[in-house]
Amino acid sequence: MKLVGLVGWRGMVGSVLMQRMRDEGDFAHIEPVFFTTSNAGGNAPAMAKNETTLKDALDVTELSKCEIIISCQGGDYTNEVFPKLRAAGWNGYWIDAASTLRMNDDAVIVLDPVNLDVIKNAMTKGVKNYIGGNCTVSCMLMGLGGLFEHKLVDWMTSMTYQAASGGGAQHMRELLTQFGTINAAVRPLLDDPAAAILDIDRAVLATQHGYSADEIKQFGAPLAGSLIPWIDKDLGNGQSKEEWKAGAETNKILGLGAAFGSAEIPVDGLCVRIGAMRCHSQALTIKLKRDVPLDEINDIIASNNQWVKVVPNTREASMRDLSPAAVTGSLTIPVGRLRKMSMGGEYLSAFTVGDQLLWGAAEPLRRMLCIVLD
Ligand code: HSE
Repeated sequence: MKLVGLVGWRGMVGSVLMQRMRDEGDFAHIEPVFFTTSNAGGNAPAMAKNETTLKDALDVTELSKCEIIISCQGGDYTNEVFPKLRAAGWNGYWIDAASTLRMNDDAVIVLDPVNLDVIKNAMTKGVKNYIGGNCTVSCMLMGLGGLFEHKLVDWMTSMTYQAASGGGAQHMRELLTQFGTINAAVRPLLDDPAAAILDIDRAVLATQHGYSADEIKQFGAPLAGSLIPWIDKDLGNGQSKEEWKAGAETNKILGLGAAFGSAEIPVDGLCVRIGAMRCHSQALTIKLKRDVPLDEINDIIASNNQWVKVVPNTREASMRDLSPAAVTGSLTIPVGRLRKMSMGGEYLSAFTVGDQLLWGAAEPLRRMLCIVLD
């Protein structure tokens, strides 16, 4: 059995990965070695077999014994440890949730229901670095992959509604704390049916404007009852890094662009943080290469993979099936609000939702592990 090093398994993404690996019985096929940055020598979790103590995640010699390493530890860890491992001659498979290596020429972004051919081709060529994609991109491609597979997309814009979990566990806590603070501030007024709604509204605004630096430490601005129209770094050209990733990563996942000797498909939009917990939603405008009838589009989208589900474009179905509350904790990727727009038959509107901790983070990694083990 292959020795598989697991780093960052206790964090939020790592915990979801461990749960999915347990659910799918992945531990039956590997000899796991659990690494830690803070508790070397401590007890490994119950899934451990022969290696029952935690190893030091900075120990290149211990890491080098593994044939495969999966890291959910984050970009700083990858930056520090990965170059040392390769410099020491380690030639194993590096499977990583962090974005650090994603765009490197010797790395593939993994989303096998969409790009198994790209992955297999790279494995044949000896590529050893397989990196999970940006959550928004992965969830979008799991939903709309069929349109790309059928080469129907001329260009696409995405307007995102991204959950707090994309920032991390502390961000989710901060969002909930803000909701609580707001509720507490207006509770007496809410309990009084005669209270004026504009008085309540004023109290909410005063709370949002009155947050201490600590209360907005993670997001840098109030999020509960508001939104933040900027995610990740400012690239200095009017675009956020999250928005840049949409185009760069979509094309790399699909095996398009100069590196593959083909033209890129323009994908761009606006990324917005909203007060959802762990599902990213996206409103998409897709310029099709030709006017394909809507029923054919439904079939193309629905038949791309076993997780995508077309939601009928009705009020009832959209409200029931097309929201973070409906999708959280599920691998299903619903795609709905499918209709031709008033600009013409080549303009398609769509809305999709995905659990950003599952398809957006953990699931492509465990599936990549299975591909390597196969
Ligand atoms: N950058 C994403 C977000 C995280 O902030 O929502 C997942 O890649």
